[in-house]
Amino acid sequence: MEMRFGLIGLGHHGKHGVLPAFDEPDAKGVKLTAVCDVCQENLDYVTRPVEKYLSAEEMIAKAPIDAVYVAVGCDRACGIVMTALKAGKAVICEKPLAATAADARKIADEVKARGSLFAVNFETRYGKRMEILKKWIEGGYFGKIHAIQFDNLWDCHKTFTPTAARRAHLLSLTGGLDCGIHELDQARYLLGGSWKKVRAMGAWFEEPFTPPPHICVVGMLDNDVMISLNASLAFTANIEPREFVDNLYLAGTEGVAIIQGLFSMGETTARLTSRTKCETISIPANGHSSDIALLLAEFANVWKNGPETPHKFASAEDGYQAQLATELAIQDAIENAGRK
Ligand SMILES: NC(=O)c1ccc[n+]([C@@H]2O[C@H](COP(=O)([O-])OP(=O)(O)OC[C@H]3O[C@@H](n4cnc5c(N)ncnc54)[C@H](O)[C@@H]3O)[C@@H](O)[C@H]2O)c1
Repeated sequence: MEMRFGLIGLGHHGKHGVLPAFDEPDAKGVKLTAVCDVCQENLDYVTRPVEKYLSAEEMIAKAPIDAVYVAVGCDRACGIVMTALKAGKAVICEKPLAATAADARKIADEVKARGSLFAVNFETRYGKRMEILKKWIEGGYFGKIHAIQFDNLWDCHKTFTPTAARRAHLLSLTGGLDCGIHELDQARYLLGGSWKKVRAMGAWFEEPFTPPPHICVVGMLDNDVMISLNASLAFTANIEPREFVDNLYLAGTEGVAIIQGLFSMGETTARLTSRTKCETISIPANGHSSDIALLLAEFANVWKNGPETPHKFASAEDGYQAQLATELAIQDAIENAGRK
């Protein structure tokens, strides 16, 4: 039996990230049966045989679906997610889960009260680098882990391209953390714990947004692991040439890992240096859709076989934790810069 999905939100990510994921060979056990967008032009983009709706509420009430995939943006997701949960649908929601930690909390509480099947799309959990790090951590190569650090610096498709308005909308909501929120989730996915303290400084690069487009976050989990994250959507955003940095460093008493991903290199290298083992692994590049396909398949498998089925997708509680860290970091960066 296939899990029937309705996709809500056919913007840039809905069209180019989520829609193609349903066609990936890894997207096993799922079928897209309905799509929804408030914009008719976006509905017309979809040529496959699915039901089409201009209203999310109508789609949730009428379409032949078991689940919805919400990709409308974090400022519009909460109401739609709550309607879908109340209608008994399983829900996958794009990151960031909501516009505020309070709304994310509301969703997580509703999911818990109803026992709903729910995932936040932190699809980087399915990437090769997480698989390698999990294996090294389980192998005990780091001893006690004390720190994890990330650099996630890119341009969000530039300030002067046809997608500049979309970039501006994302930055007005969460600044550099629209993408960096993946790393805030990765820290907890790898090392567990909940956020205890979060501080931050921001840089605005002369852009008009309230949250900083470029941010440096320092935080502590309640298991005493220190996290630092440099996240930017302003890095080479005003110039034609492109640079993209995606690095991770993990440090423990017995060893360290260095994962380096540079746009100019085209591939990522993962290096383990520990007392008992040294190893280097090359990771080829891949896109959003292939990881979303893995999430869809895993989600459908849990739906079919029950909540105890092993899975790694992010829960509503994980979505709340990432939202909380994001909100605290943005507030601190704004305060530290003397901005309102
Ligand atoms: N997981 C990832 O790596 C990843 C990558 C890119 C974007 N995203 C996330 O995906 C979300 C969407 O991003 P985007 O770039 O596609 O934004 P977008 O603004 O391009 O698209 C949003 C779409 O939702 C539609 N919409 C708005 N309100 C609606 C409603 N009430 N009912 C139905 N449709 C509605 C809009 O018409 C638009 O087509 C964001 O939260 C973004 O952060 C995630």
